[in-house]
Amino acid sequence: MENFIAYNPVKLHFGKDVVNNLGEAASAYGKRVLFIYGKGSVKKYGYYDKVKAQLDNAGMEVFEYGGIKPNPIIEDARKAMELGITNKVDLIVALGGGSVIDTAKMVGLGIANNIDPWLIISSQKPISEKMPLINVLTLAATGTEMNAAAVLQNNEAGQKVGWGHPLNFPSESFLDPSYTLSVPKNYTSFGIVDLIAHAFEAYFGKGESSLIDDITFAIIRDALNYGPRLLENLDDYSLREAIMLDATLALNGLTMYGKQSGDWGVHSMGHEISLLFDTAHGATLSIAYPAWLKLQGDRIPERITKMGEALFGAGTVDDSISELEKAFKKLLSPIRLSEIGLDEDDAAKLLAQYNKNKVSGMFHSLGSSDHEKLIDLMR
Ligand code: NZQ
Ligand code: ZN
Repeated sequence: MENFIAYNPVKLHFGKDVVNNLGEAASAYGKRVLFIYGKGSVKKYGYYDKVKAQLDNAGMEVFEYGGIKPNPIIEDARKAMELGITNKVDLIVALGGGSVIDTAKMVGLGIANNIDPWLIISSQKPISEKMPLINVLTLAATGTEMNAAAVLQNNEAGQKVGWGHPLNFPSESFLDPSYTLSVPKNYTSFGIVDLIAHAFEAYFGKGESSLIDDITFAIIRDALNYGPRLLENLDDYSLREAIMLDATLALNGLTMYGKQSGDWGVHSMGHEISLLFDTAHGATLSIAYPAWLKLQGDRIPERITKMGEALFGAGTVDDSISELEKAFKKLLSPIRLSEIGLDEDDAAKLLAQYNKNKVSGMFHSLGSSDHEKLIDLMR
């Protein structure tokens, strides 16, 4: 095991109707709130009305910034930050999936430190202050509701950057699985793949603990068990509930006990696909993970086989990877670039992008010859 620090200050409210307590919770942080949400689903399905009523009934003054897109962009964070500064907000309430919450996280840090959010997320300027952030999660996937990470895209810089900092933990997050009942099949599927990929990034990181490996496998097993059932029964509350808890636990620090770091090489590969082709995050991971495992096959065979054996009863590296591919297919997520409509020219662009941004992992580093192999393996 590696030495580690366990720290997670997020107050998590989980279960049906927990949002009924949001107004009271929010008013403890101040009166002026910046309310951030996405492109339309929260209004269509009534979640916006419920959260707005909570804020209104608590006597809060609400300033709204809607329209955050999936694979969120820095421009929205900057505009929302300006709105927050102009109106001297005390706190932020975010309603949505990872894209909305990540944007809200960077807006809060931008306001509190009076620094452009891109300079923060790209580690160009240090921060010392934070702003209270309350989330209402509507999509089970990223774990952002209970972690200190955020991911934003900057098309001008040609980068999609993931970053973490202890000041980036939300204050409180409200998780009512019924808010996820409306998530369409494709994003439900990508969310399940994402949570599985998070568990893998931790598992393939530096450090080993048999207890944490077992906990990590238990999370993945749960997702592999309930995930395909959920895709057949999108309006099943208990299945939504199970997947929502899996997603939070997969990236709230628990699977990193005994670890120095996760690897995150596959996420780096995936972010470049999203950046170039605006592909949904989870879809990039079901394409990238099998390719990465094939590349690592003779470098870390024991670790891969341990995973294959625990999850699928597979006895070899090849069988482990092929079972994982089957599992991703069962989750209706693509496993090759061609399945998301990318051709040879696109693959060449992606390779150039991997080289330009020096795509690598934190523990298993990747060089340019690896990039070529990875692109071939993803085709
Ligand atoms: O914009 P609206 O209309 O709300 O629609 C969204 C969006 O189109 C829709 N949606 C969300 N909740 C819904 C819903 N539709 C119906 N009913 C609901 N209840 O789903 C679409 C995708 O939303 P998005 O927020 O983009 O999805 P997700 O939660 O998967 O977030 C993905 C982003 O998070 C980053 C990813 O890179 C990506 O940018 N990640 C953040 C991490 C973190 N902060 O820890 C870790 C992850 O690895 C990931 O990188
Ligand atoms: Zn992810």
